[in-house]
Amino acid sequence: MTPHIGLMTSPADAQHDLIAYLDFHAESGVDAALDERPHDRFGEADAPAPRRAAPQAAPQAALQPARPALPPRGEAPPPARPSPQRTFGQSASAKPDEAASDARARARAAGTLAELEAILRDFDACPLRFTAKNLVFADGNPAARVMFVGEAPGADEDRVGKPFMGRSGQLLDRMMKAIGLDRTEAYVANIVPWRPPGNRNPTPQEVSVCKPFIERQIELVDPDLVVCLGSPSTQTLTGTKDGILKARGRFFPYRLPNREVRALATLHPAYLLRQPVQKRLAWRDFRLVRAALDGKA
Ligand code: URA
Repeated sequence: MTPHIGLMTSPADAQHDLIAYLDFHAESGVDAALDERPHDRFGEADAPAPRRAAPQAAPQAALQPARPALPPRGEAPPPARPSPQRTFGQSASAKPDEAASDARARARAAGTLAELEAILRDFDACPLRFTAKNLVFADGNPAARVMFVGEAPGADEDRVGKPFMGRSGQLLDRMMKAIGLDRTEAYVANIVPWRPPGNRNPTPQEVSVCKPFIERQIELVDPDLVVCLGSPSTQTLTGTKDGILKARGRFFPYRLPNREVRALATLHPAYLLRQPVQKRLAWRDFRLVRAALDGKA
């Protein structure tokens, strides 16, 4: 889609078209400008930037895409504000493995979910926190017997500060409803709690630095069943190298401090939105979730 901003359009029409064009991209999740040449994001920031306050926005207001102010026609746009981003290497943990061991120590120190969330808010060794608007910690009932774990927040989740708020979240809610669950009886989180810019996949380094936190979160929730949504969640939490089409529908042992429970791999709702024919497989898996909660699988 290209905005029709030409000599024949009035300034008001051109402005309207440009806003519609930007809205279209924001709604599609395209909210980061990518260059044609690669950038070394890990090495480029020199000056330490101020820490983000990361306030949790009110859901309704937050769901409205931020509308960029347009300069009057013919005027140059204002210079870009200096980025508040920092990268790996600027935090106390200079290297990814140091960042991961720092993460492990901090996660272990959390005795409650509230403490874990506060520790994560303060944790600055994952570069994603500097590009995300909000920490996306969890939604649902922390006392639930079942915990669903996705990959990473998208644009809607980042705006609202809660996981699975967009189209995949709506599908997840419908799938849960089909087996008699809703978010009052389930707890929902992601292996990475900050949105990767432009909805790219989290890198292995980002996953490994965030992993101790989701593992501690699972320990603190202490569910009977962990449902891994998609391949990154399944591979990160179960250690399997199998692809999701092989791993789905399988129970894996999952070790908690005081007991062993199970993790079930299934397809990610975003994948099901792209491949609706695969919903039949997800339906089989969700029936296994029900059976496991009923003590029948
Ligand atoms: N996809 C995920 O994996 N998690 C979310 O929270 C939203 C979309």
